[in-house]
Amino acid sequence: MITKEQVLQALSHVEEPDLKKDLVTLRMIENIEISPGKLSFQVVLTTPACPLKDFIERACRNAIAHFIDKDLQVTIHMISRVASQKDGQLANIKNIVLVASGKGGVGKSTVAANLALALSMSGAQVGLIDADIYGPSMPIMFGLEGARPKASQSADGKSRIAPIEKYGIKLLSIGFFTDPNQPVPWRGPMVSTAVKQLFNDADWGELDYLIVDLPPGTGDIHITVAQTYPITGAVVVTTPQNVALADAHKGVGLFLMNPINIPLLGVIENMAYFTPAELPENKYYIFGKGGGKRLAEYYDVPFLGEIPLVKGISDAGDNGMPIVLDDDSPLAFSFKEIAGKVAQQISILQAIPKLSPV
Ligand SMILES: Nc1ncnc2c1ncn2[C@@H]1O[C@H](COP(=O)(O)OP(=O)(O)OP(=O)(O)O)[C@@H](O)[C@H]1O
Ligand SMILES: [Mg+2]
Repeated sequence: MITKEQVLQALSHVEEPDLKKDLVTLRMIENIEISPGKLSFQVVLTTPACPLKDFIERACRNAIAHFIDKDLQVTIHMISRVASQKDGQLANIKNIVLVASGKGGVGKSTVAANLALALSMSGAQVGLIDADIYGPSMPIMFGLEGARPKASQSADGKSRIAPIEKYGIKLLSIGFFTDPNQPVPWRGPMVSTAVKQLFNDADWGELDYLIVDLPPGTGDIHITVAQTYPITGAVVVTTPQNVALADAHKGVGLFLMNPINIPLLGVIENMAYFTPAELPENKYYIFGKGGGKRLAEYYDVPFLGEIPLVKGISDAGDNGMPIVLDDDSPLAFSFKEIAGKVAQQISILQAIPKLSPV
């Protein structure tokens, strides 16, 4: 019979490609069980959306076959435990991710909705806050116009707002509390109070990721959210035009300012090119090309992907069913790929302080 030590020895040859350390050093191997001719163990990933899941599983199989026995029957359970650096305030929410841009109308809300859903479809517990007081989008994007969240008794006995559950995620929008046909005449402090209520007074339960859709620009809401909560990182959405990029720089500048210091998880370029439905192979770079990549390079952060300008995306938003839910759409795949990259960046960010020598 083989021993656990042999298994760990073999798996110590498998490197986690992002963290550049082996799976045993990273304590990712658990529950090794050995019986005659058979071996099973768990690989604990830091996110269910890990884009390297299949790659790591294959590498483990190869290592066992190479270093121990190629005829062993190996069962590998790929599980995940999303890491959290936070304690204290909002301790049940492991990661808070802001979706931001300097400019309006570049697709923040579209990205936030599809990102939240894609993470949830990978198996994570996900919440979404629409923090755009003056132009909330989520009630329409999720087909929840007129919805009013109810009060619920949370585990600690307090009365809290129950987020609305739709398509597997928990959702709160400032739009659930305002009249969509009336302008919102709120000033700075009231806006701050309203946004804080979405975080503090809601019964979010346990979340792996809370995605926050911010309004355009760099106003009171940004500053309140950035200064009040432990934010894991920000995703920047831009379109390729120079005006959008110039505004994106301003948006990014706010996050990088001392004492805000919010890490950038990367840049997503939306409306990167236009593809007409009748000519799906054609790409027209109507707003220019490569702006998102240049922005990512400038800040030395990953380019997380590009999304074309496609009528189906805005139709899906208008119809209350974001495109990532459409299995037949190639864009669903693009959004899932982007979500995997966001989750991957979060995992890397969480792992770095633990790996560096003290
Ligand atoms: N890739 C895309 N293809 C086609 N339409 C898109 C795409 N991305 C976003 N849209 C549409 O463009 C409009 C603006 O998008 P969205 O509301 O997501 O932007 P935003 O940055 O959140 O805007 P605001 O600054 O007003 O909050 C919406 O009607 C949306 O459906
Ligand atoms: Mg928006």
